[in-house]
Amino acid sequence: MKKSNIVLIGFMGSGKTTIGKALAAFLNYTFIDTDEQIECQEKRSITEIFKTSGEKYFRKIESKMIKEIAQGQKQIIATGGGIIKKRENIHFLQTTGFLVYLDASIEQIYQNLKNDETRPLLQGRNKKDTIREMLEERKPFYVQAADLILPVDKRSIHDITKDLYLQIKEVIE
Ligand code: S3P
Repeated sequence: MKKSNIVLIGFMGSGKTTIGKALAAFLNYTFIDTDEQIECQEKRSITEIFKTSGEKYFRKIESKMIKEIAQGQKQIIATGGGIIKKRENIHFLQTTGFLVYLDASIEQIYQNLKNDETRPLLQGRNKKDTIREMLEERKPFYVQAADLILPVDKRSIHDITKDLYLQIKEVIE
C-alpha cells in the first residue's frame, strides 16, 4: 500500500531532523519536526516545558500533535525520540506514514550529542551511560514499529538521504 508521509523515528541525535530536511528538499515535500511544532504551539522550548510542566505534560501534547500531523500529506515527519513510549503514537503515524528507523549506535549518538544541552532527559548523570540505558530499553520498540531500518553510523547526510530515497521511492504516492 502506498503511503503519503515518511516518518523518521529513532533515538535523540540519530539525525532525524537533518536527514528529514534533506529528504524533504529533494522530494519537494513539507518538512515537519514534531518538537518544533510543540515549541511553536507552547511558545517555549522543550527544556522549559520539561522543567515547568514535566514530562507527562509533554507526552500528552506530543501525542495530540502526532495525531494532527498524521492527517497531513506529502510530509517528511521528524519525530521526538520518545514517541515509541505510547502505542497510540505509532498507530496514528502508521495509518498514513511509512516509518523509517534511523539506527545509530551508542557511540555515534554520544558523538553527536556530547556538547548538546537541549535534551532534558540527557542532562545530569553520565551522558553515555544514560544513552546506553535508554537505547537498550527503546531499541526493540523502534525496530518493531519500523517499516525500514536504516543504519546511519559514520555515513554522510548525502549518502544516507540518497540511500533512503532509493528505498522509499516505490512506497510513496
Ligand atoms: C525525547 C527526544 C527529543 C524531545 C524530548 C524527549 C526523548 O527529541 O522530544 O527531549 O524522549 O527521546 P529528539 O529525538 O528530536 O531529540
